[in-house]
Order: sequence, then C-alpha cells, then structure tokens
Amino acid sequence: MEETSLPRPSSSSSLNIGLDIAHAFFKPIQGSAPPSTTKRHNKITVVGVGNVGMAIAQTILTQDLADELALVDAKADKLRGEMLDLQHAAAFLPRTRILASVDYQVTAGSDLCIVTAGARQIPGESRLNLLQRNVALFSKIVPDLAKMSPDAILLVVSNPVDVLTHVAWKLSGFPSNRVIGSGTNLDSSRFRFLVADHLDVNAQDVQAYIVGEHGDSSVALWSSISVGGVPVLSFLEKQEIAYEKQTLENIHRAVVDSAYEVINLKGYTSWAIGYSVANLARSLLRDQRRIHPVSVLAKGFYGIEQEVFLSLPAQLGRGGVLSVANVNMTEEEVQALRRSAETIFQVQSQLN
Ligand SMILES: NC(=O)c1ccc[n+]([C@@H]2O[C@H](COP(=O)([O-])OP(=O)(O)OC[C@H]3O[C@@H](n4cnc5c(N)ncnc54)[C@H](O)[C@@H]3O)[C@@H](O)[C@H]2O)c1
Repeated sequence: MEETSLPRPSSSSSLNIGLDIAHAFFKPIQGSAPPSTTKRHNKITVVGVGNVGMAIAQTILTQDLADELALVDAKADKLRGEMLDLQHAAAFLPRTRILASVDYQVTAGSDLCIVTAGARQIPGESRLNLLQRNVALFSKIVPDLAKMSPDAILLVVSNPVDVLTHVAWKLSGFPSNRVIGSGTNLDSSRFRFLVADHLDVNAQDVQAYIVGEHGDSSVALWSSISVGGVPVLSFLEKQEIAYEKQTLENIHRAVVDSAYEVINLKGYTSWAIGYSVANLARSLLRDQRRIHPVSVLAKGFYGIEQEVFLSLPAQLGRGGVLSVANVNMTEEEVQALRRSAETIFQVQSQLN
C-alpha cells in the first residue's frame, strides 16, 4: 500500500527518538485508563480530491466530524499535496488523523464513504457518454470501497447523482438504506436562501424542500413551505394576499439555474456542496435523525413505480436512511415527482 500519510511513530526510527522525547516531557500517570474500546471512533473516506472533495474534506475537519479522514484519488501527487496542506493546519483544527493513498486499503473500516470522483465533460461530449465514463469509473471505485468497509454508509455526490447512486447501490451490494445520494439537499438550501432573501428572513427559519431529480426535472414543494412555523401559501390565501404564480416559478427556475450560473462564473461549485455534504455526514454519524431531501431508493413512495433513486425528505441517522417523510403534496406536485422519476429512469435504462 502506498500510504502517503506520515507513518506512525513506531514505524520510523527518527520518530522513535520523538517518542523518547515525549516520555521526557510527559510523566505518565500510573494506572490511567487505557483507551476505551467502546468509544465511538468515526472514520470518513472522501474519494476524489477535486474542488468538491476538498471543500467537503475541509468542512468535515473544521466541524470536527471525524477522528480519521482518508482521502483517495487517482492522481498521487495532487493527493499527497492536498493531504499535506490539510495536515499543516493541525494547529488550528480539532485533532483528526488524515491519511491519503491511491490504494483503497487506506479506507478500511470507514463509517462513511463519500464519492466525489468524476470525469470531466470533454467539449462536444454527450451527457450520456459522460455518464458511461462515470459508470466505468464507479465500477472501479465502489467495489473496493465496499470490500474495505462492508458496514459503511455510501454517500454519492458525483453527477448525475441520482443515476450514479443507483449504480453505486448495485455495485456495492449494500442494502438500500446504506446508499444515499446528496441529491437535492443542496438545491433545497439554495431554495431556502432565495425564499429567505425574498422575505428578508433567516434561511434557517425557512422550511422548504426541493425533491425529485437533482437537475432540471426537480420539484419545488410550494404547498408545504413554512416560515417560522407559518405555512406560507395557505397563509397568503387565507389573508387574501395576492401572489404571482410566476414569482414562485421564477424562484424555482433560479434554483435550477444557480449551479450553471456558479459554474459559468467560477468554473465549478464547491463551498455550498461542501457544507451540504458535511451537514449530511453530521446527521448520519451523530445519529441526528434529521430530515434531509436526499436521493434514496424511491420505488413504492408517492406512487413511484420505477427502481430509481431520487430525492425525498428522508430521516437520516447512524443506520443510514431510517424513513421517508409522508409530506402532504398536491396532486400537481405528485405528478411532477412521478415525471421526474420517469426522466431519471429513461437515462438509467440507456445504461447496460
Ligand atoms: N451532487 C451535487 O450536488 C454536486 C455539486 C457539485 C459537484 N458535483 C459533482 O461532483 C463531481 C466532482 O466535481 P469537482 O468539481 O470536484 O471535479 P474535479 O474534476 O475537480 O475533481 C474530480 C476528481 O476525481 C478524481 N478522479 C477521477 N477518476 C478517479 C478515480 N478513478 N479514482 C479516484 N479519483 C478519481 C480526479 O483526479 C479529480 O481529482 C462532479 O461529478 C460534479 O458534477 C455534484
């Protein structure tokens, strides 16, 4: 295994001197408790140290979500550079052991494996061709992750996230509750930001979900939006306050377009997806049982018949997906959700 992390002190003679110095500095306390064998120890793996993977890694570190962080990428030099750059921040961060390798052994025993590796679109390349290349890439990554961490939760971020989460589920052999796509968790955050901006309130007080595909066929659940516990649309209707349906559609359109806008302006998206995925990692590993719109196996929910992954408001905890919330959708919203499922299924069906 080519582990590019610093070796453990016991594996290096120069660092053994370091251990001797440590003994001189610190007088051991006799009979002090040995390290607990039952204390929860969290290990997170991030595959792909590009813009997205590194934004996720740095948010995980600053938010103290892991005791051990393993990074994997196909590019050994870039990987080592990123690992060292993070390790050099040790004096400013909670203590986390950071490892990196092109070899999947480094990921062994992970509680959560986050996949952000992805091929870049070649000019003129069709979306389907890009997808096929990403599927080929996943067929190398996912079986190794599953072998090294058979009890882990898999969290897919690479796009198209819904189809690739289905691919990851098939390749891993994991039960569906342990395979999740980051889905519309980010879209919903963008949605909450835009609604909050419109009403001049704090986005954390806006409860609003985008469900369905992480992409053009996503569905904004206007009927269940609430601000500070007040259901927005029924409040406006009861008060006979006129609102333009077009305004609502414009906000949803802005959510769908916002990724394209950021990519056009800075070349990629990173910070918001970093926070969004770290937020999911917290709910999963700290068993927060919070509801997040994430990509889950949707067959059987809301009348969806296809075996597709798409985003539904799901309760997340240490066991992965614990349940799917029974949101009261309008008939129009349910129909749009089913169309979104069909859109994903059409793309999925073109794969072998
Ligand atoms: N789901 C979401 O909300 C969301 C948001 C933003 C980006 N994304 C997706 O995340 C993915 C990554 O985006 P990015 O901007 O970080 O791209 P990037 O090109 O900066 O990084 C991709 C990384 O994957 C690595 N990689 C390629 N093949 C690999 C392999 N076989 N094994 C290990 N690593 C490999 C590359 O070396 C590179 O470091 C893309 O698919 C992007 O569309 C998803």
